[in-house]
Amino acid sequence: MSLIKLVDLKPLIDERGTLVAIDGSKSISFDIKRIYYLFGSSKNVSRGHHAHINLKQLVICISGSCKIILDDGTNREEYLMNSKIEGLLIEGLIWREMHEFSEDCILLVLASELFDESDYIRDYNEFIKEITYV
Ligand code: TYD
Repeated sequence: MSLIKLVDLKPLIDERGTLVAIDGSKSISFDIKRIYYLFGSSKNVSRGHHAHINLKQLVICISGSCKIILDDGTNREEYLMNSKIEGLLIEGLIWREMHEFSEDCILLVLASELFDESDYIRDYNEFIKEITYV
């Protein structure tokens, strides 16, 4: 099964433009406790390089594009994020990396929990160990 879980954000389109609304736990599988967004990354930087133990996230590229890599310790998949009307759902123990940001890239992230550094696994070898014990 693919690691790339896409959520259709069901845009409301009329002659005035497009509106996208996301109702936590109705449009997506969790209540939203936190939002954050990333922008201003140049093409040669990469971000992420971590996994989360409990956190669920929906990632939406609301401007520009970037590549995201998801890795469950067995499979590694890359996906081009460039749609304002689809979200990428990341849940479970998944290593993620973001690369090749366009200058105008803005990644909006909806998260199921408040920020908690102890929920991060920032070392790939530790991630692999964690996967093995689950
Ligand atoms: P981090 O999650 O490591 O960013 P990325 O994986 O995209 O490179 O976060 C960068 C810094 O920001 C780190 O010191 C933690 C802090 N941070 C918060 O304080 N609150 C948040 O909600 C997030 C996502 C990060």
